[in-house]
Amino acid sequence: MSAIQLATEIPGPRSRELFARREAAVPRGPYNATPIFVKEGKGAVLVDVDDNRLLDFAGGIGCVNVGHANDAVVKAASEQLARLTHACFHVTPYEGYVRLAERMNAAVPGDFRKKTLFANSGAEAVENAVKIARAATGRQAVLAFEDGFHGRTLLALSLTSKVHPYKSGFGPFAPEVYRAPYGYCYRCSYNLTYPSCAVACVDVLEDFFKRYVEAEKVAAVIVEPILGEGGFVVPPAEYLPKLRELTTRHGILLIADEVQTGFGRTGKLWAVEHSGVVPDLLIAAKSLAGGLPLSSITGSAEVMDAPGVGGLGGTFGGNPVALAAAHAVLDQMETGLLYERARRIGDVVSRRAAAWRERFPLVGDVRGLGAMWAIELVKDRATKLPARDETAAVSKKSFQKGLVTITAGTYGNVIRTLMPLVIGDDELAEGLDVLEESIAEVSA
Ligand SMILES: Cc1ncc(COP(=O)(O)O)c(C=O)c1O
Repeated sequence: MSAIQLATEIPGPRSRELFARREAAVPRGPYNATPIFVKEGKGAVLVDVDDNRLLDFAGGIGCVNVGHANDAVVKAASEQLARLTHACFHVTPYEGYVRLAERMNAAVPGDFRKKTLFANSGAEAVENAVKIARAATGRQAVLAFEDGFHGRTLLALSLTSKVHPYKSGFGPFAPEVYRAPYGYCYRCSYNLTYPSCAVACVDVLEDFFKRYVEAEKVAAVIVEPILGEGGFVVPPAEYLPKLRELTTRHGILLIADEVQTGFGRTGKLWAVEHSGVVPDLLIAAKSLAGGLPLSSITGSAEVMDAPGVGGLGGTFGGNPVALAAAHAVLDQMETGLLYERARRIGDVVSRRAAAWRERFPLVGDVRGLGAMWAIELVKDRATKLPARDETAAVSKKSFQKGLVTITAGTYGNVIRTLMPLVIGDDELAEGLDVLEESIAEVSA
């Protein structure tokens, strides 16, 4: 039986009515990728308020790697909700916080003693990581990358690259933030070609430290192991190891922002594991608590203890219900089954995507790792002119056929796959059929 069941026109009358109310009551700022309102989700299927059943390739932007309404997450969170909803770790601490910190310390790469702090969102994790790096190094500057995304609060937004719509009109931004090109081989800023380039995009940072900011002033380099919002860009294998070597040489801390890449998405718990790189600080959020708001910052005990007592925290950071959910997520990650699923999804998606690249000139590049795949659309393969409107059209057509997708990329010309990793083989095939049909229609 088909997972997608469109009972009515889409959006149906209830969604349309709610949208009218949304427009009257909620600012236009928060973008809505689809015109439906959902009422339920299970696994990789969403049910909207008009009883349409849709397949979900977005996972609430990568937050439900264990699936919507995951049984173990629901059980753990509901039991915790009834026992203790909130206490504030600063006032009367609770064991779930310490136990998850212990588990994260063991799960994050690095053969040294670690500590973990919890916050609520990815942006908050970014802010805390920078605070910790500054306190630990006594330096102020932070280097981020073009096409990087690190959140929407002021410091995180300052580190974020994409101007429209994220930054436009919101300045002034935090000082001492610098930016260099990422290892985006399909659109190399230096017009070089991998592997003959020898990953020069890292080597040029030595020059960057001469022209823009001295290395001795740089507290941290913050990097996504694979760009998320920036278009699911997988850098060359040597990229992160070279960045690690460069930062170590200059006493700069390396912050791995695994908010989107973490928790099994790439076929391992962390994307950095594919490179063997051990970052100084690793931050997670999104799928960490299976859809509840929770983020983490993990690093060596020495670095994490640099800020003084009272220097870190927040009212809700490490909420007991979110922590209980995260324990249930980590239990499932530790079985390894979801990593296998991610790799299997990646095999299937990559084969289909490679065929699309052969068949449709619109498909300029396909790339990915595990279940994190990008289909980058271009108007012309030679000029690589981004096909933004066509990408929006593919996403819209897919939605009308019952598949929820989201786009990415500075030019909005990338379709990305963030389906729950529990998606069934038949569901995956059905979703990919929809995507293929939509690309074919837009290509025609
Ligand atoms: C890599 C990365 N860092 C940080 C963030 C910000 O996370 P949040 O939206 O939870 O603040 C995101 C969100 O998409 C992200 O992808």
